[in-house]
Parts: sequence; structure tokens; C-alpha cells
Amino acid sequence: MQQFLFITDLDNTLVGDDAAMVKLMERLVEHRQKYGTKIIYSTGRSLFLYKELKEEKQLPEPDILVCAVGTEIYTNNHINQNWSKKLSPNWHRDIVEKIAKSFPELEPQPNSEQGDFKLSYYLKEKLATTIVPELEQQLQAAQLDIQVIYSGSKDLDILPRNANKGMAMTFVRETLEIAVEKTVACGDSGNDIALFAGRKEKGIIVGNATKELLAWHHNNHSVNRYLATGKCAAGIDEGLQFFGFL
Ligand code: GLC
Ligand code: MG
Repeated sequence: MQQFLFITDLDNTLVGDDAAMVKLMERLVEHRQKYGTKIIYSTGRSLFLYKELKEEKQLPEPDILVCAVGTEIYTNNHINQNWSKKLSPNWHRDIVEKIAKSFPELEPQPNSEQGDFKLSYYLKEKLATTIVPELEQQLQAAQLDIQVIYSGSKDLDILPRNANKGMAMTFVRETLEIAVEKTVACGDSGNDIALFAGRKEKGIIVGNATKELLAWHHNNHSVNRYLATGKCAAGIDEGLQFFGFL
């Protein structure tokens, strides 16, 4: 057994099956103690909502926490300013917000979920195929360097071009100096695609993955990615064994 870098989404990936989660985390925490394995949570939640979940599910402390869909990175509750600085150039939050407001189909999420580098809305699934491209087109026409991410058939996030879960993973991996081959990321929905797209890191998609992630997975095959049959933490466990990490 050897050190590896374990990155996981929380809602419906690590969290969703309490018994499987407790079992998996016990093994991972032991692995961390013995081999220096690093545990990273990468969630769409703000720090505020993350803390609620951490408390509710008694999640072990991660080595690094990535919040707000890759736009905020925390170590021991301190935000990583170097990461924030990378996201600022050419990010015009006010203009993005103004354009988004012109779409009545977009319902703003609660204030806690609006970040310095993240604007979040709810959008009905049946409207997404028309509204997402229209929104992207208008944001691009205003020369904004952004990306639009639709997740879980309901959440729409607008982020700077240089921030998503994948880019945050690279930043964390390089900071920790762990090789790509020794890195594995796990997810279940649209905002996790960035953890898998064109990546040499190993990827685990849990068996309960959402439509948008499954559709993407089936159109973008990769030997580095494993689609589990098990749900949530049981699926992660299955994938970690498949790749030989555990
Ligand atoms: C989490 C966040 C929400 C975001 C969603 C998808 O639920 O709280 O703001 O839209 O993840 O990324
Ligand atoms: Mg999720």
C-alpha cells in the first residue's frame, strides 16, 4: 500500500449511504495515518453549507477542502489567497449578474451560495437545453471569460473560466506534490465532469450518478475512469479497489 491523493465530492458521492461512508472513511483515515494519504473534499456547497453537512454527518477533517465548485480552497479554515488571486483577472461578477437577471427562468439560490467567484441559480430541467446555450451565448457576447455548469438537473453555476473542480484539483495536487497516477477523484453529477474531462488522474463515477454525468461519460470514454455499480461510498470503495488504491 502507498500514499495516494483522494478527492471526493460530498453530496450523493461520499455522503448518501451512512453505513458505507463510515466504513470507507475509517479505512481512509487509517491509510492517511499509515501512508500519508491525503483526503480532499470537493463540494459545490459554500463553506457555510459544508459546515452544516460536516456536523450532521460527523465527517472526518479533510487535509484540504475545496468549496463552491472549485472556486474556494481552504486549509484549516484559512482560504488560499493564491488560488483566489488566480481567479480574479477578467472576472466581472456584476456584469455576469446583470445578464443572468435578464433570464426570468433563472431563480437565484440563497445568498449563502453566492460566492465571490460563483453565481448560482435554480433552473428547471426541461428549460435547461434552451436556456443554458442562450445564457452562454449572451455572456460570451459580452466578452466574459466564464463557464456555465448545470448539475443535478436543477443547479446552474456561473464561474470564472479558470475555476472548476478540475482546475482546483490540479492546484491542490501540485501543492501537495503528488503524481497524477496516484490521484483519484470521485463524483456523481455535472459539476464533477471537470474532475474527469481529459484527465490522467483516475476517476470514479458512483453508481447513482446523474443523467448529465452518465451521458457525458458514455460519450467520452477513458481507461482512467471507472463507473461503479455500487452507490455513493460503496461505489467509491469499489473503484478504489479496482484501481488498486485500497
Ligand atoms: C451545491 C451548492 C449549489 C450549487 C450546486 C451545484 O448544492 O450549494 O450552490 O449550485 O452544488 O454545483
Ligand atoms: Mg454531488
